[in-house]
Amino acid sequence: MAKITPVATFDCVVFGATGDLTLRKLLPALYHCFRDGQMPDDARVIGAARSNLTADDFRQRAGAALEKLVTPDDLDADVVRRFLTVLDYAPIDVTAPDADWTVLSSRLDPNRVRVFYLATSPDLYGPVCRGLAAAGLNTPQSRVVLEKPIGHDLASAQAIIRDVAAVFTEAQTFRIDHFLGKETVQNLMALRFANTIFERLWTSDVIDHVQITVAETVGLEGRGGYFDKAGVLRDMVQNHLLQLLCLIAMEPPVSLDADRVRDEKLKVLRALRPLAPHEIPSLTVRGQYAHGAIDGKPVPSYLKDLGPDSSSATETFVALKAEIRTWRWANVPFYLRTGKRLPRKVSEIVIQFRGQPFSIFPAESAEWEPNRLVIRLQPEEGMRLSMMTKDPGPGGLRLSSTGLDIRFEQTFGTRFPDAYERLLMDTVRGDATLFMRHDEVEAAWTWIEPILNAWASRPDQPRLYPAGSWGPTASIALIERDGRTWYEDVG
Ligand code: BG6
Repeated sequence: MAKITPVATFDCVVFGATGDLTLRKLLPALYHCFRDGQMPDDARVIGAARSNLTADDFRQRAGAALEKLVTPDDLDADVVRRFLTVLDYAPIDVTAPDADWTVLSSRLDPNRVRVFYLATSPDLYGPVCRGLAAAGLNTPQSRVVLEKPIGHDLASAQAIIRDVAAVFTEAQTFRIDHFLGKETVQNLMALRFANTIFERLWTSDVIDHVQITVAETVGLEGRGGYFDKAGVLRDMVQNHLLQLLCLIAMEPPVSLDADRVRDEKLKVLRALRPLAPHEIPSLTVRGQYAHGAIDGKPVPSYLKDLGPDSSSATETFVALKAEIRTWRWANVPFYLRTGKRLPRKVSEIVIQFRGQPFSIFPAESAEWEPNRLVIRLQPEEGMRLSMMTKDPGPGGLRLSSTGLDIRFEQTFGTRFPDAYERLLMDTVRGDATLFMRHDEVEAAWTWIEPILNAWASRPDQPRLYPAGSWGPTASIALIERDGRTWYEDVG
């Protein structure tokens, strides 16, 4: 394993310190960075929130969260004890006109890298940034980290971008799409640009179509208030799925410099063919889960999950067909689907190659399957390239489809760090490669917005699907109309 070099020491202020994201994701990620020696012992993490807690109260909450969320193998009592001493707390109500920033300010070292992590609702991004500026806390070594959603449409995203830009430069601004921090998502760049074989095949001459599936078994998980306003198109497609599409479709960047990588992703987003209103009913499907069963256990409907007597037209499933208007991708559709309460948690990308133009083998020698590369992002991370091979033995020529298989866990035998570990340390390093630039966010909304508008004018939707199924049957029809099928060898 490569030697771990710690990042420069830093002060990290987490706004929204008592919230779900901080306790569930950020603190466990920081704990792992600390344990692995990436985070220096004298770094400081200062929780900031409205609750009037002491530093000890906050440490106690953090300790309980680690106990619950870190696997026993990784939980070392001595490391936990040392990690908790790194934590501090500053109560502050950022919305109050007379908010007192002095407590927070007194905790910060003027000579250190400073990370302001905004794990709050986006309507606080403006007030927090203005408060930081007024208190003189934005030093040249400061960075601000924003969680998604960046807005709920283009105009609101631009308003947030403007509010933050009034205080922080683009180079200081880190917009998180946590999918970009997943090891297997980072590996997409290695797959494409560190291997000569694939890049030469990555064209419409050879590739028939691409499928991107991000399926979840979970439902609302107590986030109904947020989710019901967002829906899965905003929550997952506008960011995570479009980012995956970019990484698959982009041209090789001239270097790994953050802006050069983001320039190429931006070109893909700008090349997405805008969907005309009349096409949206046939090129998109939205669904909402009804009651059903997952793993043999009954699961209530979305409306029941929302609460008694709820009514909602929010989608929990989306399937759509996208096209990229470039020479490389002409006539290669990208089919995207994602949803809650599907049968399995699985995220994967399928590169379906074209079939042979003609065959010299007798028709009865095989059930032909054109080559396919399946990139499994989670769980059971790995890659499988399926190919036709001769069945060994006598009795005539028979062919069948087998696979070249890489399972990362077996190959590397190491824990896969959580996306937030990498992303948090990258903010300290000032490396924005795995973060979204403002123009990417805007281009993604520009493509998504007509879909949202067309859907808003169709009150007869979404279509119901039983929890534990792969979404409404219209999703199957969407791809089968083109003579293709969803890859479902996920068993
Ligand atoms: C988040 C969404 O961005 O990603 C959630 O808001 C979703 O709704 C989650 O469940 C999925 O992330 P992961 O890392 O569990 O695949």
